[in-house]
Amino acid sequence: MSGFFKSSIGRKVAMALSAFFLMFFLLQHFAINILSVFSADTFNEVSHFMGTNPLIQYVLQPVLIFGVVFHFVMGFVLEIKNKKARQVAYVKNNGTANSSWMSRNMIWSGLAILAFIVLHFIDFWFPEINTKFIQGDWSGMHEGVEGYRYFHELQEKFVSPIRVGAYVLAFIFLALHLLHGFTSAFQSMGYTAMHKKTLQNIGKAYAIIIPLGFIFIAIYHHFNHIH
Ligand code: HEM
Repeated sequence: MSGFFKSSIGRKVAMALSAFFLMFFLLQHFAINILSVFSADTFNEVSHFMGTNPLIQYVLQPVLIFGVVFHFVMGFVLEIKNKKARQVAYVKNNGTANSSWMSRNMIWSGLAILAFIVLHFIDFWFPEINTKFIQGDWSGMHEGVEGYRYFHELQEKFVSPIRVGAYVLAFIFLALHLLHGFTSAFQSMGYTAMHKKTLQNIGKAYAIIIPLGFIFIAIYHHFNHIH
């Protein structure tokens, strides 16, 4: 089994499996975040549940963090192996002839997403870990804030136009990454000709709708901030 994951195809399958997992996470992350546009109370309730449920905190969250790290590390490994396999650079890399711009630049769109994740963790995740695990405050309350604090904290983050701009840019890179990544992951798992067109269409829809939805959330909160 470990031999399989050391082979070139094994690595691609492992990459695809982690990609599916992250795409599923992204879908649920979007489903929860979009609630903040419709109802502050519902968003607060769901966030509090997610943030305090032991199964989510102690099992799913570590699995997610492992998935994120694994995907990035494996992405770099695949990129380096691919470059090595092609020791002699093409005399003329006529890329568009047989591969898309997106597919040749997965490492760059991936790096842009990695930079976003760092910023995003500084914004949301580290303060959350600090409040709960270091200060030991699991109440979800904050002085001067009525009800749970989650909606208030989310709104605060989208006041700065610079941060909103950085988020929007990152979501565009996310769309580019997913536009190739979605169908590529299915191909690595062996889905080919028969489902190709349908898969490409679902992939395109996912890669455009989800990042656009995130862009909408960021811009919505920027313009609807309650002081
Ligand atoms: C407008 C868009 C987004 C908002 C408002 C948002 C909001 C949040 C919030 C509030 C948390 C903290 C959850 C907690 O730990 O209590 C979080 C965590 C996280 N976000 Fe986002 N997010 C957005 C987009 C994204 C995108 C596009 C990605 C991936 C590319 C992403 C990846 C993550 C990850 C990996 C975590 C840590 C997961 C965890 O809670 O353990 N987020 N986000």
